[in-house]
Parts: sequence; structure tokens; C-alpha cells
Amino acid sequence: MTRYDDVKQTLRNNPKTWLITGVAGFIGSNLLETLLNLDQQVVGLDNFSTGHQRNLNEVHASVNHERWSKFRFIEGDIRSKPTSNQACQGIDYVLHQAALGSVPRSIEDPIRTNENNVTGFLNLLVAARDANVKSFTYAASSSTYGDHPNLPKVEERIGNPLSPYAVTKYVNELYANVFSKCYGFHSIGLRYFNVFGPRQDPNGAYAAVIPKWIRALLKGEPIQIFGDGETSRDFCYVDNAVQANILAATAINYEDSRVFNVACGDRTSLTELYSLISTHIVRLTGQSTIAQPTYTGYRAGDVRHSQASIDRISFALQYENPIRCDEGLCRTISWFTNCSSEFWNEA
Ligand SMILES: NC(=O)c1ccc[n+]([C@@H]2O[C@H](COP(=O)([O-])OP(=O)(O)OC[C@H]3O[C@@H](n4cnc5c(N)ncnc54)[C@H](O)[C@@H]3O)[C@@H](O)[C@H]2O)c1
Repeated sequence: MTRYDDVKQTLRNNPKTWLITGVAGFIGSNLLETLLNLDQQVVGLDNFSTGHQRNLNEVHASVNHERWSKFRFIEGDIRSKPTSNQACQGIDYVLHQAALGSVPRSIEDPIRTNENNVTGFLNLLVAARDANVKSFTYAASSSTYGDHPNLPKVEERIGNPLSPYAVTKYVNELYANVFSKCYGFHSIGLRYFNVFGPRQDPNGAYAAVIPKWIRALLKGEPIQIFGDGETSRDFCYVDNAVQANILAATAINYEDSRVFNVACGDRTSLTELYSLISTHIVRLTGQSTIAQPTYTGYRAGDVRHSQASIDRISFALQYENPIRCDEGLCRTISWFTNCSSEFWNEA
């Protein structure tokens, strides 16, 4: 029995009230589905800037009526202090996911990224502190490693940020530390490494590589690889991020603010990723021809290689048996081949 199994059993026996910000997004809706299936009470906050009603609809369809009735949704914005305060009332555990993702978006619009990711974060942190929540877990990012060359990435060694997005995620960590020191309000930051899985948005200019390529290959459209194809990432299936959040929220006896890598500890190049995705698509759909990639210039703000050490999270939170990239791709592509057509809409 793993600590994760234990924690889930304890939660089923003794349900808690959770706040998920960014609940209509990709990771947020996966957290919601897991927590409702554990019979938890959940408050969700989202302003639908990058999240979608369709994600909530899919969770609704997958859980029974009684479980869905334990979910209360607030359509609102973390940039509003009153909304943040309202959302934190009566909450045991906060899982703060709301932010504007995407490195290229932040390069195009650093001000909006900062307002959502820094001002919004600070509002939530203050609201959670004032509401005396039991724990505050937030989505940090592997982009905080910036230009540090070492592999694998260990939490205490970071470089200079390479994008406005990376700056905002690092500022979150700085605020979390300062709140520990100044107010004794401790939190856990989860540095996600390229999370992917069902419900990740495949549409639009800022789509992440995995859903974007799955969409293109299923539609027979061309794909482009930025750089020489050797750029690599520690692609992390969303269930691993869900496990990390639940372990972090329920961790006890931590007396400062800490950050943990959330990943598998593997490294997959973009060329390998293309090959894995296309193999699964051919197997799952019987598609006979598959578009070959073309190679183009490197993208500004991108880190060249990324691979996590997962020693710290494994030891401190007993994070175990992460689902590996290939198995995660198989599950994700199965989901995309079966998902409702509303997931392909650009709106
Ligand atoms: N997906 C990844 O690979 C990855 C990697 C590192 C960090 N993260 C972080 O994880 C978190 C979740 O990412 P995701 O991939 O699920 O993205 P997502 O865009 O699918 O979800 C983010 C959600 O937050 C909501 N949101 C944004 N700004 C808001 C605001 N001001 N008020 C209320 N709601 C707001 C959006 O509408 C959306 O539903 C983000 O903080 C992101 O920066 C993600």
C-alpha cells in the first residue's frame, strides 16, 4: 500500500473541502474529477480565459449525480481580491492552478501574464492565509530552471529565467517563501514538467506540443518541429500531477515553504515524441499514412533540455510509480480519438 493509497482512503472516510482555482482548465479539471470520485467537497474558481465549460461538462458526465452535487462553481477572477476571499471561505485545502500558461503568450503579452500569474497569485495567497486554510499547494513550473545547464534538474539549483512566464512562476515561489517567513504561512509549490493528458487544449496558437501534434496527425495536417528535434523534455502524464497535488495538500509537519519537481525523471526528444505519437495513432486508428514533420527554427524562450530529479518528492511526499511518458501517450491518444467533437472547436 503506497502513501497515496492511504491518503485516498483517509479522504474517503473523512471528506475535506477543497478549492481548485483554474478548475475549468486541463490540470484543474483532472483534479476535480479525482477529488469528486473520492467523495470530496470541491469549490472551483475559473474565469474561462483559457479553460472551457466543456471540461466541466465532461467531469459532470463521468461522475454520478450525488458526487457532482458536492461541487460548487464560482465564475470569477483571481485578479479580484473579493472573489479570491470568497473562494477561500471554509476551505481546508487550496490547489491553486489558475494562471496564464505558455511561454510564447508571455513573450507577446508580459503585462497580462504578470497580472494573472503574479497579482492573482498574491491575492490567492493572502486570501488563503486570512481564511486559515490547512494547506496551500500551487502550480509552479520547470521553466524556473531557466538557463541552468545541469541535468537532471534538482530543486535547489536554478538559473536565470528565459521568459516572462518563467519570471512569474519564480516570483510565486519567492512570495511563497516570504509568506512562510513573515506570516508563518507555509505552502508547497509543484514544479510541473510538461504535463499532458486528456482535456489539454489542442487548439489555438498557444497549444502545448502533445495535444497540438495529436490533433494535427489525427486530421492529417502537417506538423513542425522547432530546432533539430533533439530538444528534450520530461513529459509528465496528468495523473502524476494529480497524485503530487493530493500528497502535497495532505502532507503534515512541514515548517517552511518547499518546492518539488513533478515529473517522471525521464527525457524524450521531440523526434522521439513524434515517433511515439505517430505509432500510437497508427495502432489506435488504423490510419495508413501519417504526416512527416518538417524542421524549423528554434523558438524564443525555450529551454534546450529538461529532465527532473524526482528524488525530493519521492522521499518527502512518497510520490511513487509515476505513469511513464509512453503509457501516458497511449491513454491520451485513446482519449483524443474518442472525445466529443466540441474538444476540437477553436472557440
Ligand atoms: N500544463 C503544463 O505542462 C504546465 C507546466 C508547468 C506549469 N503549469 C501550470 O499549471 C497550471 C494549470 O495549467 P494547465 O495546463 O491546466 O492550463 P489551463 O490553461 O488549461 O488551465 C488554467 C486555468 O486557469 C484559468 N485562469 C487563468 N487565469 C485566471 C484568472 N485570472 N482567474 C481565474 N481563472 C483563471 C483558465 O481559464 C484555465 O481554466 C498553471 O498555473 C500553469 O502555469 C502547467
